[in-house]
Amino acid sequence: MFTQFKIFIALAFAGCVVNGQIYTDNCPSVSGNVSQCNIDTPIADVPSISTSNILTPTYSLNLTVICSSSRLNDFKTAASCVLNSYRHCGDNDYKTLVVKEAAYKDAITYACDNIGPIMHVQNCIGDSVTDCIRNREAREKRTDGATPDRSEPFSDYRDHFCARRQITKECTEHDEDFLACVGTGTASIYLEYYRKMTPAGCGATSIFIASSLLLVSLLSTFMKYL
Ligand SMILES: *[C@@H]1O[C@H](CO)[C@@H](O)[C@H](O)[C@H]1NC(C)=O
Ligand SMILES: *[C@@H]1O[C@H](CO)[C@@H](O)[C@H](O)[C@H]1NC(C)=O
Repeated sequence: MFTQFKIFIALAFAGCVVNGQIYTDNCPSVSGNVSQCNIDTPIADVPSISTSNILTPTYSLNLTVICSSSRLNDFKTAASCVLNSYRHCGDNDYKTLVVKEAAYKDAITYACDNIGPIMHVQNCIGDSVTDCIRNREAREKRTDGATPDRSEPFSDYRDHFCARRQITKECTEHDEDFLACVGTGTASIYLEYYRKMTPAGCGATSIFIASSLLLVSLLSTFMKYL
């Protein structure tokens, strides 16, 4: 139970909430197409990959295996095929909540170049991060139960989805036990992976540019008074 929850948290942190940005119930062709992706590009020693596998690669797949030089290209091909089949089910709005193929491949390359630090960070996410997330979700009315349904404007769903990602990110980033466990260099690698996996609808680049600009402006304000 705890492990599952911990995995859920880290998945959300990695930018890929598994309960589905896109509703596939109205998309009967997706399962056949995903099977075809696996038939077209089998990957040695990796069982057939699904939508949730590819959206959560650092958890649900063995990175050491998929990143090996003999498999990485096949993995990227098959996973992109699965990703595109999934995105294909969403309308233009909902598509913006799923990372695009080029960004996805880039994130995988980055994860493969940094397997050690990424696995280490995932192992540092503990109970105190979970407590923070649950508390903030409850206070900000961002629990699962508060998910807006399709009768509401898309922006309501998007705001809810992106706010949940943001809560997870902030709770993890600021948690003292987590920080003591990871070390700063490693945390920045994970944050970069997270940024790469952030879908455009949640401001893939704007949030990070905004926060680094803020930092620069705070620093320059500070310098003025030195
Ligand atoms: C991942 O695969 C490697 C190489 O086959 C293996 O040594 C390792 O134990 C696996 N890790 C997990 C978590 O299964
Ligand atoms: C599945 O493939 C068929 C044939 O290429 C295509 O018409 C359909 O749109 C695809 N569906 C999805 C969800 O990718």
